[in-house]
Amino acid sequence: MPNRMDRGFYMYQQEFEDKALQVLRSGWYVLGNEVSSFEKEFADYTGAKYCVGLASGLDALWIAVRLLKIGVGDEVIVQGNTYIASVMGITMNGATPVFCEPDAHFGMDPEKIEQLITDKTKAVLVTHLYGMASRMDEIVAICRKHGLKLIEDCAQSHGACFKGQMTGTFGDVGCFSFYPSKNLGAFGDGGAVVVNDKELTPGWTSSRPDC
Ligand SMILES: Cc1ncc(COP(=O)(O)O)c(C=O)c1O
Repeated sequence: MPNRMDRGFYMYQQEFEDKALQVLRSGWYVLGNEVSSFEKEFADYTGAKYCVGLASGLDALWIAVRLLKIGVGDEVIVQGNTYIASVMGITMNGATPVFCEPDAHFGMDPEKIEQLITDKTKAVLVTHLYGMASRMDEIVAICRKHGLKLIEDCAQSHGACFKGQMTGTFGDVGCFSFYPSKNLGAFGDGGAVVVNDKELTPGWTSSRPDC
């Protein structure tokens, strides 16, 4: 049976159609108030301080690696069972992916990370698959111990928490996709990154009202 992307649309058809008409009639088709209010609401929802909307989850991933100044000659530890975009976020920056096996719940296995760390390792990129969070307390502790950056691929984990904290807010950058089939899907491609560190946000305009 083919994927039905329109089920959610029919559940809220009137609201979606009213909003689409409002946007069409506003004449503002790129960025604008709709995008910045979404960025604020999404930052608020995740509990992160800052959010910027992007064109896709892949964009979020390569921009995350770039924001952290990781590139040629650097290694990033990434799950072997993740979607290709997590790996491309690393390779598009010229860095080298080093694959870590998952645990029994398809998350990154914290017990297998340390043996992969070399003097070239700059970051760990963890993917929360199938709406389930990886074991973030152990992963954060390893990153802190070794001075590594931490990137979260949350393309499949909108709303998923680990011990009450939203995925995307444990590390340096949380990366989201709003591809139509995701937990939070758009009518088309979309993505976002969330961060807490102001240093990573030069030129960003959107933040939670209280930050
Ligand atoms: C785990 C994971 N990472 C990244 C992506 C890439 O997101 P996008 O299709 O929006 O580029 C996806 C979605 O396809 C995904 O499932």
